[in-house]
Amino acid sequence: MANDATVGTVLITGKEIATRAEELGKKITKDYKGKELVLVGILRGAVMWMAELMKSINLEDLTIDFMAVSSYGAATKSSGQVQINKDLNSDIMGKDVIIVEDIVDTGVTLSYLRNYLKNREANSVEICSMLDKPERREVNVPIKYKGFEVDNLFIVGYGLDYDQKYRNLPYISFLNE
Ligand code: IMP
Ligand code: MG
Repeated sequence: MANDATVGTVLITGKEIATRAEELGKKITKDYKGKELVLVGILRGAVMWMAELMKSINLEDLTIDFMAVSSYGAATKSSGQVQINKDLNSDIMGKDVIIVEDIVDTGVTLSYLRNYLKNREANSVEICSMLDKPERREVNVPIKYKGFEVDNLFIVGYGLDYDQKYRNLPYISFLNE
């Protein structure tokens, strides 16, 4: 299957993503003025989006951290289970957290992570996702800062992978199978 997969046309350009990240970064700056914000990027898919977003967050006390979780294997189907492969390095107790994610699909990963970080006694936990694939939602999760909605396609590029490939594409595309 992987051998036959080809990358489709461009759905969202790198420039459109950068513009949206700037808008959301400015909004976050306003919303979190005077607060100790921690951006928690979810490896590995969120790296490009996180880098783009944080450039436009202008807060003195901003810190960043990363977690790695897996809910997908090498296939394009969700296993419905979340495993933590790398935990936070910092203490988030009393801090305001935004989870920075590449895409919300079923919602399983983010609803799990939200509860997990709330249990670490964060003052607040919100979500900033580059993409939202609402058609596939199984668990309802509030996305306070959303980049773009996408159709029910297998998305690659701008951090998102298929079998660990295509993360480097500087735009959002999809997989033809
Ligand atoms: P969820 O738990 O089903 O919401 O899926 C979350 C994770 O699955 C995302 O963080 C992605 O890493 C991965 N994922 C979901 N949809 C796609 C896709 O279309 N392309 C690549 N990865 C995806
Ligand atoms: Mg991910």
